[in-house]
Amino acid sequence: MTDYLTIAMPKGRIFREAVHLLLKADYQIPTEIENSRKLMIDVEREKLRFILAKPVDIPTYVEYGVADVGIAGKDVMLEEEREVHELLDLKISPCYIAVAGLPNTKINDVMPKVATKYPRLAAKYFREQGEQVEIIKLNGSIELAPIMGLAQRIVDIVSTGRTLKDNGLVEYDHIVNITSRLIVNPVKYRLQDNRINDMVVRLNQITQGV
Ligand code: PRP
Repeated sequence: MTDYLTIAMPKGRIFREAVHLLLKADYQIPTEIENSRKLMIDVEREKLRFILAKPVDIPTYVEYGVADVGIAGKDVMLEEEREVHELLDLKISPCYIAVAGLPNTKINDVMPKVATKYPRLAAKYFREQGEQVEIIKLNGSIELAPIMGLAQRIVDIVSTGRTLKDNGLVEYDHIVNITSRLIVNPVKYRLQDNRINDMVVRLNQITQGV
């Protein structure tokens, strides 16, 4: 079983894009994988083992070496600061992190509240702006926070912009562009596993054309 290359894949919206990328790179992966509820899937003919985890947990599986490589959003990388190497920008799932809030609202409070899934990233941003804020960690539906008066601002992912628009929020600042990355455990990378290098070469060829 050890001859399998284990790849940690994010469940949810990035998964489908990541599978398509691997298919384009000529990995023979059964398309049923997209609808499976299994969390560990072996693809015998490619000697690939997929583990499906929450996007935020991908760098953790890779850092601890239970996965050799993983596909993780740059947002997660910036927030988690795990001991992993970023090998390739896969250029999939493009979006950005923004500061948003209700329109025409100034932050007047001494210590305004900012709701986010990214407490470390948000704290760093406001520190760099020289603004003191109180960070409130939420795990989803971040856009509710300004509407409900829980926070004056949010720091969150914007993809199509629909969630902001549908909830009557506007952007105040663009923090950083985000795409998904191929990441690797540093020890495994140092061992020069040919399958990892081969994956980088093949995916790189595809992403160059994206
Ligand atoms: C993400 C993000 C925004 C939304 C942005 O949430 O946190 O809420 O997508 O996408 P849009 O710009 O295309 O509308 P997600 O759907 O992951 O759900 P969550 O609220 O549970 O985090």
